[in-house]
Amino acid sequence: MRINTVMAHKFLTLFSTFNATAIFGPYVSPGTEIATYGDTDFEDVVTARWSAWAEPTFQAAIKPATEIDLQNIVTIAANLSIPFLAVNTGHGTGLGYGNVANALNINLGNFNSVTVDADNNLLIAGGGVNFGDVFPVLYDAGKELQTGNSECVGLVGATIGGGIGALQGLHGLILDALVSVRIITASGSLVTASATENPDLFWAIRGAGANFGIITEATYTLHDQTNNGYVSLGEFVFPGSLNGSLWEILHTFDDYLPPNLALIISGGFNHTINSAYVTAGVIYFGPLAEAQAYFDQFIALGPVSQVVLNTTTLAMYDLLSATACTDGERHNDYTLGFNQTDVLTYTEVFGTWADFAAANPNYAGQLTFQRYSNEAMLQVPSNETSYPWRDIKTYLLLDNTYTDAALDTAVDDISKKIRSTLEATSGFGRLQVYVNYDHGDEGVKAKYGSSVERLQALKAKWDPHNLFGIPNPV
Ligand SMILES: Cc1cc2nc3c(=O)[nH]c(=O)nc-3n(C[C@H](O)[C@H](O)[C@H](O)COP(=O)(O)OP(=O)(O)OC[C@H]3O[C@@H](n4cnc5c(N)ncnc54)[C@H](O)[C@@H]3O)c2cc1C
Ligand SMILES: *[C@@H]1O[C@H](CO)[C@@H](O)[C@H](O)[C@H]1NC(C)=O
Ligand SMILES: *[C@@H]1O[C@H](CO)[C@@H](O)[C@H](O)[C@H]1NC(C)=O
Ligand SMILES: *[C@@H]1O[C@H](CO)[C@@H](O)[C@H](O)[C@H]1NC(C)=O
Ligand SMILES: *[C@@H]1O[C@H](CO)[C@@H](O)[C@H](O)[C@H]1NC(C)=O
Ligand SMILES: *[C@@H]1O[C@H](CO)[C@@H](O)[C@H](O)[C@H]1NC(C)=O
Ligand SMILES: *[C@@H]1O[C@H](CO)[C@@H](O)[C@H](O)[C@H]1NC(C)=O
Repeated sequence: MRINTVMAHKFLTLFSTFNATAIFGPYVSPGTEIATYGDTDFEDVVTARWSAWAEPTFQAAIKPATEIDLQNIVTIAANLSIPFLAVNTGHGTGLGYGNVANALNINLGNFNSVTVDADNNLLIAGGGVNFGDVFPVLYDAGKELQTGNSECVGLVGATIGGGIGALQGLHGLILDALVSVRIITASGSLVTASATENPDLFWAIRGAGANFGIITEATYTLHDQTNNGYVSLGEFVFPGSLNGSLWEILHTFDDYLPPNLALIISGGFNHTINSAYVTAGVIYFGPLAEAQAYFDQFIALGPVSQVVLNTTTLAMYDLLSATACTDGERHNDYTLGFNQTDVLTYTEVFGTWADFAAANPNYAGQLTFQRYSNEAMLQVPSNETSYPWRDIKTYLLLDNTYTDAALDTAVDDISKKIRSTLEATSGFGRLQVYVNYDHGDEGVKAKYGSSVERLQALKAKWDPHNLFGIPNPV
């Protein structure tokens, strides 16, 4: 039964602490789990988190069983001014997550259905599904969707900030595949947003989605598999001394990257041998014979090790997820978007970064550049969605990984220096950041660009009391 605010009125007090079981229990179905921080079952109800850096704090967790439960939870929490955060896989990072304090964790884990309508090329996915849930279902149906690369990441969470990945050159951003969503808004209403229903909300959620409500279900357009579901994959490892040559190769793709090719070049530091290394991942959605010319450019540099495979996309995502999906370390990340590769600047910051890694034996970060084609996403008019940065070609992901919080300040200092050095020659002349990779200090213009004013107007309409989107406000 859907409640109204009058029924919640008897609890009206300003809660600094709240008894979640007493408040929500009477208005949710029996399948809904509720736990308070400190309860023995709290860890079962609250969602796990990927990063221990800038963590939200929760004093209670609730895992609704149905959409109506979720509507009632939002209605009551809003009425009682209880802060909340809907969480799926807990892979969101950024300073803003640390602003979620003493809140209610709304675990979306029960919204986990995945259905493929092969005849109509549609995927219907629950708001609590991750990429790993959809990969096998799509593969078995002979279909594909542009996704991110890691199985552990939430499909809807990635989508509503943009959604980038190896297939974006062929099919665009993940949000470009979105057909419609079922979304619970600040009033507790469950509405559909699509090109024809609530189109203003549909525009807003495609780029700043976490600010407008909780999506219980999303429908996406699918494609038939490219190359029958096989992909040519090259993974090459080089000593750090060759970094400049790798940036040179990346630079040759500044004007054009074939839509079915993706490059991931990543610096790492091996503390055992006290030296930096660079890996180049080459993903080509096509036969090996066509991919060979791209592999050869890297092989010519003399990698210390290499793997070249013709494999299924399913196996590829397994490989790409292997190390990325470990929970619990500090990930204090920085990002930046590029229109070009300035070889000298990349070489300079790689040196700065490697010196820092060498001086800090417990630092296990990676300096990664993801070059994805934006050919397909540029086919979509820029005002069609609120996502502002269709012109980004390369994404920096400076994934600072460590466990000791005492390293935070030093990491921030070196990372800000690296980011500002890179910004000067990024080809945009300003900070353009992908919101889902943000550090959190960049400001709204850097994350939402020219969409800021319209997003703020829509925020006033759909979520006037800022219930949603504490981590990345508009
Ligand atoms: C290891 C790793 C790999 C990644 N790889 C990629 C990648 O390849 N491509 C890419 O684009 N991004 C990638 N990301 C970034 C990722 O898109 C963001 O971290 C995203 O916010 C994760 O969403 P989540 O649901 O997994 O995380 P959560 O922390 O659960 O949620 C993140 C935000 O989205 C909101 N949210 C989640 N689900 C819903 C919903 N159903 N309705 C409304 N709001 C919701 C939450 O409230 C929160 O504000 C990666 C991140 C990590 C840590
Ligand atoms: C909570 O509900 C009561 C009763 O309907 C209403 O008077 C009050 O304005 C509501 N408060 C908020 C913050 O919505
Ligand atoms: C990066 O490459 C340049 C040459 O292009 C080299 O001088 C420098 O030492 C390399 N950096 C590291 C950390 O190995
Ligand atoms: C990005 O680079 C291309 C050339 O590759 C250029 O045509 C375009 O104007 C640049 N965009 C911006 C915003 O500077
Ligand atoms: C670091 O180098 C050692 C010695 O060559 C090697 O055994 C190990 O696998 C390397 N570690 C990484 C993460 O590359
Ligand atoms: C890739 O492997 C599959 C399955 O073994 C095979 O059918 C296909 O021909 C291979 N493609 C190439 C280009 O080798
Ligand atoms: C985008 O801009 C075009 C041309 O100015 C306009 O016709 C269209 O309605 C706009 N679309 C949206 C979704 O605002």
